[in-house]
Amino acid sequence: TIEVIVAREILDSRGNPTVEVEVGLDDGTVGRAAVPSGASTGAFEAIELRDGDADRYLGKGVEKAVANIEDRIVDQLVGYEASEQRLIDQKMLDIDGTDSRSELGANAILGVSLAVAKAAANSVGLSLFRYLGGPNAHLLPVPMMNILNGGAHADSNVDIQEFMIAPIGAPSYREALRSGAEVYQALKSVLRKQGLATGLGDEGGFAPDLPTNAAALDLIAEAVGKAGYRLGTDIVFALDVAATEFFDNGTYTFEGSTKSPEEMSEYYTKLADDYPIVSFEDPLAEDDWSGWSTLTASIGDRVQIVGDDLFVTNPQRIARGIAERSANAVLVKVNQIGSLTETLDAVDLAHRAGFRCMMSHRSGETEDTTIADLAVATGCGQLKAGAPARSDRVAKYNQLLRIEEELADAARYAGAGAFPRYRS
Ligand code: PGA
Ligand code: ZN
Repeated sequence: TIEVIVAREILDSRGNPTVEVEVGLDDGTVGRAAVPSGASTGAFEAIELRDGDADRYLGKGVEKAVANIEDRIVDQLVGYEASEQRLIDQKMLDIDGTDSRSELGANAILGVSLAVAKAAANSVGLSLFRYLGGPNAHLLPVPMMNILNGGAHADSNVDIQEFMIAPIGAPSYREALRSGAEVYQALKSVLRKQGLATGLGDEGGFAPDLPTNAAALDLIAEAVGKAGYRLGTDIVFALDVAATEFFDNGTYTFEGSTKSPEEMSEYYTKLADDYPIVSFEDPLAEDDWSGWSTLTASIGDRVQIVGDDLFVTNPQRIARGIAERSANAVLVKVNQIGSLTETLDAVDLAHRAGFRCMMSHRSGETEDTTIADLAVATGCGQLKAGAPARSDRVAKYNQLLRIEEELADAARYAGAGAFPRYRS
């Protein structure tokens, strides 16, 4: 039974404030969770409540969200069984009363929602992935490691936001992580040797200026070889273009020129021909529904097309995407929708329609590792949590090592099975 809820303002990985919540039960167990924050946020995401007081944290303080938890949520939830996740989340959504979660703030609701789940898991002595996923939770996701950062996550000239490596050929998650980390280190020396910058972007990947976007793939390809892996079998590529960021008035400004949705699609088709790419996330803008359907019809049979800003983990937008075949996969971010229940509903909806799901961090993260457990609990087979470097990113990848260890012989690594459409 929930006895006490405490909320506080802490710092995220970018040095901006965010919400942390602790839920205490009458049996003495506690659950703690922290809320992530995006930079290239979708227009249709749930509202993250910020104070707007320019004298504190440049207006980004979250004292209002913290106060909403203390003044408007705690009293309503004390006395609930922590295992009543769905009722608890619904209660908070009712108190909020808006579709956008702007009244309480999605950051307030999500912090409580995740902390409740963790308290409930602790109370029954189960790891979070087992509590949420039950006895069938055994699939370790492919770590989608973003080793070269561009777009809104870096100060470089690279348009594409995330260049990810997916070690699909590894026999286990542990070995997959190792190969990713080795390629990351190899990439650093490749960049150094070419006189390119080795400073990092927001998600721990390198962020050099480059002549083209494809040049990033060539550098990573070189690093894969240098690290002793085979490109296309051991390691494949995935991109998060985050195209909404460079879309305006029906056109895309890409590599210094203006491009139509059709031209962007031709570019992606060529890229998928030239490189072993298994997944394109947000290749087109969040409002370009017809462009998405055309692209999915054209290359969706061989690559994963993932909606992030397009779907914002929102069941209504995912339902439209299923009906219009706008994509074939959903990026899942807990703070885009704002509660654990709705996140699980979004995954369920996607899976029932044969869409894949990729569990995801935000560019602003904390030491919280909930998404690693969620990836295993939902059996989604893919987790993106940035580079295999910097503690805010590595915390998630390390949590998966612990989960793999706990599952022991029952653990299965998703590997190439996570991308059934890919043909090498
Ligand atoms: P964000 O970026 O957290 O800044 O939105 C991550 C993504 O676009 O997937
Ligand atoms: Zn994205």
